[in-house]
Amino acid sequence: MNKIIKKEVLGEKIKKIEVEAPLIAKKALPGQFIVLRVDEKGERIPLTIAGIDAEKGTITLIFQEVGTSTGKLGMLKEGEDILNVVGPLGNPVEIEKYGRVCIIVGGVGAAFVYWMAKAFKEKGNYLITVMGARNEKLLILEKEMKKISDEVIIATDDGSKGRKGFTTDVLTDLIGIGDKLDYVLTAGPIPMMKKVSDITKKHGIKTIASLNPIMVDGTGMCGGCRVTVGKEVKFACVDGPDFDAHSVDFDELLKRTALYKSHEGKSYEKLLHRCKIGLDT
Ligand code: FAD
Ligand code: FES
Ligand code: MG
Repeated sequence: MNKIIKKEVLGEKIKKIEVEAPLIAKKALPGQFIVLRVDEKGERIPLTIAGIDAEKGTITLIFQEVGTSTGKLGMLKEGEDILNVVGPLGNPVEIEKYGRVCIIVGGVGAAFVYWMAKAFKEKGNYLITVMGARNEKLLILEKEMKKISDEVIIATDDGSKGRKGFTTDVLTDLIGIGDKLDYVLTAGPIPMMKKVSDITKKHGIKTIASLNPIMVDGTGMCGGCRVTVGKEVKFACVDGPDFDAHSVDFDELLKRTALYKSHEGKSYEKLLHRCKIGLDT
């Protein structure tokens, strides 16, 4: 059991929780994640570690309620327990002084990179964060990213916040005006990461994509998170989750992820219905 010792609501369906996990807090580094099960009926879901407090023995998780498991997690209150949290899993990202680092995130991708972004800034890099969402309401961690970045540029599809358009339009413009970028880290929807990768490849900019395929065991056993990188089969949970974007087969990744969508939607509808009529979840 892992107790939630603090809970904050960061936005509509965005929660930040601090969870007791002393062994994980001792070892975890930026880029790593945990796999948790909310309760005995729950599936295992991966969440990125967004920070640690080694002295307190806690880890921070930031998540968006998008379905049944994250929905159930979001219902837990301070003082309540998560059934189990396993980690740290995956490989830490290499935090070096590259110079001008550009983080490009879409939607919940901001939660994936938050701790990494902070670490790049602390290492002395100039940090430009480009954040995108379909509309203003879906933009997450804007305040938090502004605190740790030298520049934050926002793009929304409908123009409700920042400039109207995509993060990739911002990237094209940054490169177009001669803004030198030494390193790009991207996380979010697969088509966005693919486009970012296509653009930076043309300009020879080192780019890392933080991938989030379906993960089940998180230990390289189930094959759920299989991804092709440079014609080699990799498992994102043990070989990643961060990879050289220019070598990732994004088209294959998109096809594999789409396979699960309709089952998950039905499961979430069922959870919301049970909550509405007051049944045990
Ligand atoms: P569902 O309705 O089951 O699924 C909604 C969508 O979430 C799916 O369409 C799929 O794209 C994704 N998803 C579902 N099950 C899984 C699974 N087992 N593994 C991976 N993705 C899944 N989300 C955050 O909000 N914050 C994070 O910090 C974060 N970090 C992640 C780190 C990694 C390495 C990975 C792989 C995913 C991360 N995610 C994060 C995504 C998160 O795991 C999913 O949102 C969550 O599993 C959804 O479960 P659900 O039952 O609530 O929704
Ligand atoms: Fe099972 Fe990666 S999650 S192999
Ligand atoms: Mg689910």
